Amino acid sequence: MKEVNMAEKPNILSTVPEMDYMEKAPNIDAKEFQKVIDSRRSVRVFDGEPIPEKVVNRCLENALLAPNSSNLQPWKFFWVHSDEKKKGIVKACFGQSAAKTASELFVVVASTGTWKGHAAEMVALLKKGGPDIPKLAIQYYKKIVPFVYTLGFLGVLGFLKRFLYFFRGLSAPIIREPVTRGHLRLWAVKSTALGAENLMLSLRAYGYDSCPMEGYDSKRIKKILELPGDSSVVMVVAAGKRVKGGIYGPRIRFDSGRFIEKV
Ligand SMILES: Cc1cc2nc3c(=O)[nH]c(=O)nc-3n(C[C@H](O)[C@H](O)[C@H](O)COP(=O)(O)O)c2cc1C
Repeated sequence: MKEVNMAEKPNILSTVPEMDYMEKAPNIDAKEFQKVIDSRRSVRVFDGEPIPEKVVNRCLENALLAPNSSNLQPWKFFWVHSDEKKKGIVKACFGQSAAKTASELFVVVASTGTWKGHAAEMVALLKKGGPDIPKLAIQYYKKIVPFVYTLGFLGVLGFLKRFLYFFRGLSAPIIREPVTRGHLRLWAVKSTALGAENLMLSLRAYGYDSCPMEGYDSKRIKKILELPGDSSVVMVVAAGKRVKGGIYGPRIRFDSGRFIEKV
C-alpha cells in the first residue's frame, strides 16, 4: 500500500484563500534602518530625563505590531509609573544601574492563559469582517487553536497528544508542541520577546536607548505587579538617553560565519 504523505495533502495551512486584498509595501530607507540596528546598544547609564509620553506610547504600540504566533498576542507590556513600584522593580533587578538610572522602566510579560479568550475575540473580529473573510480563518481559531493549545487538567491532554503526535508523525509531518506547560510558556515567550525587540528598536528610532534585563528576581516582580500565575516575566527594559560611560565598550560579536549557515 502506498504511504500517504500528509504534507502533500491540502490542509488549513497550505490552502491559500482566494482574496482580492493587497497592501502596497512602502519604500524604506534601508540606510536609516541600518542606523537603528547599528546604534542600538545596551545602555547601562541613562540621563534620567523623562521620555515624552507620545514617544513612549508610539514605541509601545510598535511593540504590539510584532509578529506573534497565530496572532494570539500572548503579551503584556507594563510601563512602570508609580514611584513605589519603580523602586521595587529596581530592587528586584538587584539595583542594576540600567534600572536605577532609567528614565522609563518596562516589564515585558508573556501569558499562557490568554490564548483561549484571544482566539474567541479573533473569531468575533473575523466574523465582523463579513463574507469575504475566509471560512478557513474562522475554522483555524475555532478548531485548530483549541486543539493545539489545550493541555487539559494537570496536562493530561498534552500527555495524550504527545503519543498521538508521535504515531501520526511516523508517516507525515505533524505539529509536536505544545504538549507541556513548559512548551506553552516557550510559545508565549517567543512572541513576547519579538515585541520587546520592536520596543527597543522603536526607542532607538525615536532617539532613545534601552537595556533589556533578565537579571532580576521574577517572583518579586510578579508580586509587585500582581501578575497571575500564567505569567512569565520575559524582560525588564530600561529606557532613556545614553550618557558618557553608559555603554561598556565597543560592541562584541563572534565571527558571523559561526552562526549563519547556508544549508
Ligand atoms: C534576554 C536578555 C537579558 C539581558 N539581561 C541583561 C541584564 O540583566 N543586565 C544587563 O546589563 N544587560 C543585559 N542584557 C544585555 C546584554 O548583555 C547585551 O545585549 C549584550 O551584551 C550585547 O550587547 P548590545 O546589546 O550592546 O549589542 C540582556 C540582554 C538580553 C537579550
